Amino acid sequence: MASLSTSLPKPSFQHPNTSINLPDHLHNSCLVPRNLSFQRLGLISQQGLFGKVKIARCSHQAEALVDSNTQISDVPILTCSEAFERLKKNRENQKGKQQFLAMYSSIFGGITTDTSAMVIPLDDHMVHRGHGVFDTAAIVDGHLYEFDQHLDRILRSASLAKINLPFDRENIRRILIQTVSASKCKTGSLRYWLSAGPGDFQLSPSDCHQPALYAIVIQDKSPHDSRGIKVVTSSVPIKPPQFATVKSVNYLPNALSKMEAEENDAYASIWLDNDGFVAEGPSMNVAFVTKEKDLLMPAFDKILSGCTAKRVLTLAEGLVKEGKLHGIKIDDVTVEEGKKADEMMLIGSGVLVRPAVQWDNQVIGDGKEGPITRALLALILEDMKSGPPAVRVPVP
Ligand SMILES: Cc1ncc(COP(=O)(O)O)c(C=O)c1O
Repeated sequence: MASLSTSLPKPSFQHPNTSINLPDHLHNSCLVPRNLSFQRLGLISQQGLFGKVKIARCSHQAEALVDSNTQISDVPILTCSEAFERLKKNRENQKGKQQFLAMYSSIFGGITTDTSAMVIPLDDHMVHRGHGVFDTAAIVDGHLYEFDQHLDRILRSASLAKINLPFDRENIRRILIQTVSASKCKTGSLRYWLSAGPGDFQLSPSDCHQPALYAIVIQDKSPHDSRGIKVVTSSVPIKPPQFATVKSVNYLPNALSKMEAEENDAYASIWLDNDGFVAEGPSMNVAFVTKEKDLLMPAFDKILSGCTAKRVLTLAEGLVKEGKLHGIKIDDVTVEEGKKADEMMLIGSGVLVRPAVQWDNQVIGDGKEGPITRALLALILEDMKSGPPAVRVPVP
């Protein structure tokens, strides 16, 4: 270990804006026209890591380019501690807004606060078959918000995905709380997964010896943004109800739908169901305030049953009592109805309650953040800070 830094080439991760000189024989390659810079090709140079190996990824050529002089022996064979050291360096080079404070894994049966050890086995069926479910909970002022509601949902998701539980509910709950406690995180989120577990690379999980539980605590201090945003109708097909109602790790349609929104300068894409009614966003539910001042939300039978949306429905009863809302309706919502609503909002653990002020080319209401959306956001924020014990679990 002591001689690691001298005996091993240091991992170096090429900044995407740095251009690299091509060796002549690669310039001559039919795959790389001389006038194309590696920057445009999206070169990933890991020269430090793999000796002389150069790998270029090109958006329109799937084939990897490898220096023909490269010997396979240039790829180092690492001991466990050397691999671990490189994982550590890799982590140190990744500085994002989020910090990963603690991870639990049933594979090693404990909690680690070392980010380089926050890994899961490649043969876990959640990795190579998508056979896993997950859920989240916000950490607010040292409390888990709507923890039991999210926990119930992951257990339901696991049952629908035919994933056996590695522990009973009480023990899963205890492990998750201990993980947050070990992280010392006061503001952020907890994410956790139940997986068919590691075993092999088959399709059936029948030879996976044990289902797995993983959890991670993420610190995120970025302030909540409540500005009105634009949404677009998703052209990525919605998942069929059997899968949309399960919070599984199969989020490819969701990711593509979010990317489609970003490509159109929007925040989220809105899915319509197979009958053309408004469904949900890629990581949030949708609701409207109609001209008659009803809060209108699609039913949860074909989409994910949002914990935040359900809580909003309960808190909105207060606005009905105050006369600010006429009523609360769970019903089919046509696109026309949605687009001519007074207010439109996105609801979820991530966005909380976020006003949508434009849908495709249609301005919603007067194009400004509406009063009911603002009132519901204030109620949720208040609930997160000082709601009843049923929605706020203290972390010791
Ligand atoms: C597809 C989808 N719909 C809705 C939601 C909102 O659910 P929640 O309020 O429980 O976060 C999510 C949240 O992750 C989601 O992924």
